[in-house]
Amino acid sequence: MRIAVLKETHAGDQRVAATPDTVKKLIGLNHTVSIEAGAGLTAGVRDSDYKDAGAEIAATPADAVRNANVIFKVRAPSAEEVKLYPKGAGLMALLEPYGSKAAAETYAAQGVTAVAMEFVPRITRAQSMDALSSQANLAGYRAVIEGAQLYGRALPMMMTAAGTVAAAKCFIMGAGVAGLQAIATARRLGGVVTATDVRPAAKEQVASLGAKFVAVEDEEFKQAETAGGYAKQMSEEYQKKQAELVANHIAKQDIVVTTALIPGRKAPTLVTEAMVRAMRPGSVIVDMAVSQGGNCPLSKPDEVVDVDGVKVAGFTNLPSRMAADSSALYAKNLLALLPLFTGENGEFAPNWEDEIVTAAALTRDGAVVHPALKDG
Ligand code: NAI
Repeated sequence: MRIAVLKETHAGDQRVAATPDTVKKLIGLNHTVSIEAGAGLTAGVRDSDYKDAGAEIAATPADAVRNANVIFKVRAPSAEEVKLYPKGAGLMALLEPYGSKAAAETYAAQGVTAVAMEFVPRITRAQSMDALSSQANLAGYRAVIEGAQLYGRALPMMMTAAGTVAAAKCFIMGAGVAGLQAIATARRLGGVVTATDVRPAAKEQVASLGAKFVAVEDEEFKQAETAGGYAKQMSEEYQKKQAELVANHIAKQDIVVTTALIPGRKAPTLVTEAMVRAMRPGSVIVDMAVSQGGNCPLSKPDEVVDVDGVKVAGFTNLPSRMAADSSALYAKNLLALLPLFTGENGEFAPNWEDEIVTAAALTRDGAVVHPALKDG
């Protein structure tokens, strides 16, 4: 089939959905690849690199998608861009599906089978296709690097002739994919790391990375994991107890990274204004959930807010700050997913019997079919 890769138009997103490596692999599978000129520049890939890998370079988005069977993107296209897509084509991208029924309707109206990479289930067979994980992993790393940069002191303990510099205390809230990588990164940089989560299984994972687990471990905590491996919404009573524990702990921390999320919901508030004000000047909070409303009410999208000397950072797109790596992993996720949408003769033919396909597809045959979007 013919695969088109477009330059991202989402403000500030520097990633690209294919690399010379994945282009070569796609061509090896008898597909052709058409890349919009300049699509890879912000991720460190020149048009000539794609050309050397066997891709065609198209001057405009319209040229790139002409006769395409599948369009690979990082972020959702604009309504105008969708109108360029050939009827019957597939679209694979991070479509931010929750609450995007109107966008899904534009894909359906165009006869496009839209696949939301966010809805690829977190099951073992889909690990190589899991873009949320590949991006969150890098984002967790980058959150600590950004935090370390904003923190005006050193992270490791340093004993010098002129005196000792104390190690920074780093607290990671939410020990999922991003949180675990944040823990590992803060440890590598020499911080003294603690972490918290509402899932009991996280305790062992945190300990295995050499960090100390901090949580209210009552009966509700012991029951708190859904079958999907995600956290469930905790009771108000639990949240109150956890907030008290966190309040005492956080006042002594230097760098806090918050990553707490329940899919499809507003992020829970974990760090209140009072907690921020209890931290010492110079300390830093990196709120990774800022796009979902934030784990801290003071964080603002893509701003570093100064609260009496405490910096509250809300970077909305950490993966894009390391676009070469995040693009390489994302492109591999797409490459791994494509066979589930490929027929025996290499044509675009989603395997509707496959649970990964039905979990991730938003539209089919001109209609919005995903249950998360059907009612609003
Ligand atoms: P995940 O689902 O793997 O991890 C989230 C963790 O938070 C889970 O372990 C969950 O149990 C925990 N959690 C939920 N409620 C909690 C609470 N009240 N207290 C403590 N822990 C709680 O999610 P992942 O992939 O690690 O992503 C984490 C967050 O980072 C999400 O909000 C995601 O949108 C965000 N993210 C932000 C990026 C950015 O550039 N700012 C990039 C990638 C992800």
